[in-house]
Amino acid sequence: MTTPDMLRNLSCMQTVSVILPTYNEAENVKIIVPALSRLFLEKGIRGEIIVVDDNSPDGTAFAVAQMAGNHPVRLHVRKKERGLGSAVIRGIELAKGDVCVVMDADLSHPVERLPEMLGPIWAGQFDATVGSRYIPGGGSTSWPFSRRVISRGAGLLARPLTGLSDPTSGFMAFRKEIFSQADLDVAGWKIVLELVVKTNPKVLEVPIVFNDRTYGKSKLGARAYIEYLRHLHRLYVYKYPILFQFFLFCMVGFSGLVVDTGVLVTLVDHLSFDPRVAALFAFPAAVTWNYVFDRLWVFKARNIIRISPSYFFFFSICVLGLGLRIGVMHLLIEYAGMGRRPWYVLASIIGIAAATLFNFLGSKYIAFSGKFRR
Ligand code: GDD
Ligand code: MN
Repeated sequence: MTTPDMLRNLSCMQTVSVILPTYNEAENVKIIVPALSRLFLEKGIRGEIIVVDDNSPDGTAFAVAQMAGNHPVRLHVRKKERGLGSAVIRGIELAKGDVCVVMDADLSHPVERLPEMLGPIWAGQFDATVGSRYIPGGGSTSWPFSRRVISRGAGLLARPLTGLSDPTSGFMAFRKEIFSQADLDVAGWKIVLELVVKTNPKVLEVPIVFNDRTYGKSKLGARAYIEYLRHLHRLYVYKYPILFQFFLFCMVGFSGLVVDTGVLVTLVDHLSFDPRVAALFAFPAAVTWNYVFDRLWVFKARNIIRISPSYFFFFSICVLGLGLRIGVMHLLIEYAGMGRRPWYVLASIIGIAAATLFNFLGSKYIAFSGKFRR
């Protein structure tokens, strides 16, 4: 795509800021800063390195400060704040370059891939590039099986948010302009995901081989997984607000089905009810259950639960939904020949799907709309 000559020409025009977040990386910064600096010289890149250190006790900042005379490196020490996401954002804010690169300081991300990351952006073909372990040519060395599985799973969870093969990658280059357009969440912990979802850039994946660190240790413990799930949650709400609400609504609906069945079985098995009579009791129990969780969790109405107009609207919608379900089944059985095994089950499922959609829209726009939610 971009030849070395083209790269040289393109690189003359644009400056690059490489952002390195650090926490206890004293050994690693002594290697990566000179390596980047050498690469800048070799490739004719007009670049700066910005180290954002969270006051590491191991002397990372001191090591960086000592190199500042010989290498184009700037140091920013944060004494109060901590955290990878906010450190990266700070670094981008401080960056003077037209193009920013975010990478780990522990040599996990190969410095020598920088030209491939920058070329497509300099050429104006892409707004951003992301280093990927999961496209041909990419990979990771000496990773235990468990970490591979977690990494793949984490990537899969983010799939509907981006088309990236490796959305949890921490290696990215982008035109700085796209950053200023974004309303970034400082707690947004996976900065690549955050930027890609919020700015929707034209992005290219570049294969990289992720090397395990030699010095120091990873800071991303069990808490990082929880933070990641939280971050994903916020991004889903951001990108697909109604669809996500519908997903939650279905989860509540499913739990309501469990309640319905529980009441049914209890009444029939322990109190000798006729199943049809028991179902009459099970239905309002499940509706009430759903109401509480839809109110608190899905539509986030007020916290206090009390009998309110919204409850009566919700109940009525559920009754209509039940009617709709039976109506759809009736049509499918009468006119589509779905009365026989196993087709009636499908007819019932289609009925449930129609009723769920109906209940959702009714709940969202009537029962929990501004007017009735109190
Ligand atoms: N300033 C600052 N503050 N830097 C931090 C902090 C922090 O709280 N936590 C971590 N860093 C820096 C580290 O010093 C390192 O340079 C970089 O962020 C990555 O941290 P690691 O602790 O080495 O993370 P990892 O190797 O477990 O995870 C990396 O690979 C994952 C892919 O599997 C990161 O790139 C992840 O973002 C990525 O998902
Ligand atoms: Mn690392």
